[in-house]
Amino acid sequence: MFQTDLLEGRTILITGGGTGLGRAMALRFAELGAGLFLVGRREDPLEQTANDIRAKGARAAWFSADIRDFAAVEQALAAAEREFGRPFGGIDTLVNNAAGNFIARTEKLSPNAFNSIVEIVLHGTFHCTLALGRRWIEAKQPGTVLSIVTTYAAANCGSGFVVPSACAKSGVLAMTRSLAIEWAPHQIRLNAIAPGPFPTEGAFSRLVPSKELEERARNHHPMKRFGRPEELANLAAYLVSEQAGYVNGECVVIDGGEWLRGAGEFNHFLDLPGSAWDAMEATRQK
Ligand code: HXC
Repeated sequence: MFQTDLLEGRTILITGGGTGLGRAMALRFAELGAGLFLVGRREDPLEQTANDIRAKGARAAWFSADIRDFAAVEQALAAAEREFGRPFGGIDTLVNNAAGNFIARTEKLSPNAFNSIVEIVLHGTFHCTLALGRRWIEAKQPGTVLSIVTTYAAANCGSGFVVPSACAKSGVLAMTRSLAIEWAPHQIRLNAIAPGPFPTEGAFSRLVPSKELEERARNHHPMKRFGRPEELANLAAYLVSEQAGYVNGECVVIDGGEWLRGAGEFNHFLDLPGSAWDAMEATRQK
């Protein structure tokens, strides 16, 4: 479906780009011709992913930074400039992928627990968006921002037991839609993706703590399966590409219909065995 030069000449910064969905997007963007600049906290996965990208023949560099710290984000852009030899590394696309989350009863949370999630997800996303957005505006060059949110942000329903994440991701979506308008005159597009369950080590180790709960989640899913990272990476590639040049301020859900299942009044009938349907239909015919 994609031309192999879809992202030729592009330079994409991905936060949390060393692991999980960030890594999947980085490798896919590289296959489509982009150069990658990976930012994250842990050096080893960043270096590994950058090496894997280079092995595909694409440009890649990385910088270890905690995006909660605006000064560290600025240092990352200075590093991109050194690595790629152009102002702010010639980065034209930002993917806000880095996140933090855990399952907890809210009454047990410390204020610092709330802060740590909101600072990674909301402040960190804002820091990266601000740092690049103001450079694009100053340089009078177009830019694209793609933020990874969640279905509980897209559906505006929140979620129990992940309250800091629900608050932070809703804020990221509000930022996306607000700036999509404010920065449209500067040719800067901002969109979001709301993934449902994608099995990655970072998310599943924290959010799906046992095999039994994983099985329960899969069985409850209308398609009886989780997402594949390449499915999300392809959607991301489309949204950051020029093919999506008129898509702005949008949030695309990719969850196999998982959240809709919880929304429809009678969707729990999915669990009804055939024999129960037969009995109900037999009653109606009488
Ligand atoms: C309650 C917890 C906790 C838990 C940490 N804390 N884990 N509280 N339950 N399970 C508290 C700590 O006690 C501390 O508060 C505060 O949070 C900060 O914890 P630290 O470990 O000091 O923070 P830090 O080292 O900065 O680590 C941040 C983190 C960690 C978020 C806690 O888990 C992390 O680095 N995660 C990154 C990867 C990740 O979470 N990926 C999942 C993303 S999935 P006190 O008061 O004791 O100091 C996602 C989408 C989900 O976002 C959508 C699915 C459909």
